[in-house]
Amino acid sequence: MKPIQVGLLGIGTVGSGTFQVLQRNQEEIRRRAGRGIQITMVADLDVARARSIVGEGVQVVGDARAVIANPDIDVVVELIGGYGIAKALVMEAIAAGKHVVTANKALLAVHGTEIFAAAAAKGVMVAFEAAVAGGIPIIKSLREGLTANRIQWIAGIINGTTNFILSEMRDKGLDFDVVLKEAQRLGYAEADPTFDIEGVDAAHKATLMSAIAFGVPVQFDKAYVEGITKLGAADIRYAEQLGYRIKLLGITKRVASGIELRVHPSLVPAKRLIANVEGAMNAVVVQGDAVGTTLYYGKGAGSEPTASAVIADLVDIARLQTADPLHRVPYLAFQPDAMSDTPVLPMSEVVTSYYLRLRVADEAGVLAQVTALLAGAGISIDAVLQREADEVGGEGATSTDLIILTHNTREGTMNDALARLQQLPTVLAPIVRIRKEELN
Ligand code: HSE
Repeated sequence: MKPIQVGLLGIGTVGSGTFQVLQRNQEEIRRRAGRGIQITMVADLDVARARSIVGEGVQVVGDARAVIANPDIDVVVELIGGYGIAKALVMEAIAAGKHVVTANKALLAVHGTEIFAAAAAKGVMVAFEAAVAGGIPIIKSLREGLTANRIQWIAGIINGTTNFILSEMRDKGLDFDVVLKEAQRLGYAEADPTFDIEGVDAAHKATLMSAIAFGVPVQFDKAYVEGITKLGAADIRYAEQLGYRIKLLGITKRVASGIELRVHPSLVPAKRLIANVEGAMNAVVVQGDAVGTTLYYGKGAGSEPTASAVIADLVDIARLQTADPLHRVPYLAFQPDAMSDTPVLPMSEVVTSYYLRLRVADEAGVLAQVTALLAGAGISIDAVLQREADEVGGEGATSTDLIILTHNTREGTMNDALARLQQLPTVLAPIVRIRKEELN
């Protein structure tokens, strides 16, 4: 059978990895796919650099639309990123009858519904394994391996940059700003790290996993997104003393009234495997009703790990290209006419437990005031930790940190209670609130 012909849009880190792995493993990949997979055309603004990566046998152009217009190209691999030109090119490739492989989580989390509908109408595949957790085959696991299950929840460390920063903060006792600068110097964080540190990148990925797990449309606009920029070294230390680690988790959960979809720093019991995922690594825990708890771990970014996912999609396309489009694996795991309109819940309806840190005056009755207010709101306390004022603020200090772990409560209830606690004259600084996930 004639090799499948692939056109790359963008040959940066992931594109060059894809080219190299396809070359290196071409014979094994051909034996698996049943036909060869060849990158025959590459578009990149830097034509000279692209040429230096692919050599002479591949057509290199500066204009991505020349790839889409080439009738010999079967699959377009979009590795440009972002919502702008990438969206236009993906839609044009679909309109031209090309299958599309993309690593672009932002594009699919925001415009996935439109893109999948266009692809279904045209009978082409849009594959995106590389969009979530890089080299970890989590899309395939959710969509195919776990297809027997009613998925109950997913919780993942799905952003390597922030996990690296949190690991460094814990190991070295440093504050966020210091570690971010170091991460940028070492190349672990980008010059503009906003999407990573504010939780947006993780929310894009959580949005895609949520849609696949629960058969709902992609709804990034309904996700609750909170990053790690306000985390202090003190909270990481206190969490540790209480037997927890702080991780930026992407969580999606099915509850009676709807679906939770949220990204925020979370206390996770130190004994959980996922709490021990360090550095830039990713991990995803999936709870299914039949299989129980499963854990997926690996590199969430990087040239060849991400290429591994891109090429897996290319092999799928090579295998399925001749299958009737109605009998291929659906884009979001559920058949398009069997999607559900289960609502994504507002954050105020989410039920979870909490870590609270209050800087309080070290005087009689303060603890009683705080606990009485929480009791009045129906919030049950799980544990309390208070260090001596001297230990927290130095000799002669007159204030101290009061750490409270709560049992499960509704976020809206907690918001009201925090507003009232903040008004107490003995509470001397903004209260720190971090959600806690037992993951059991
Ligand atoms: N910037 C991402 C991360 C990798 O740090 O995990 C690509 O999604």
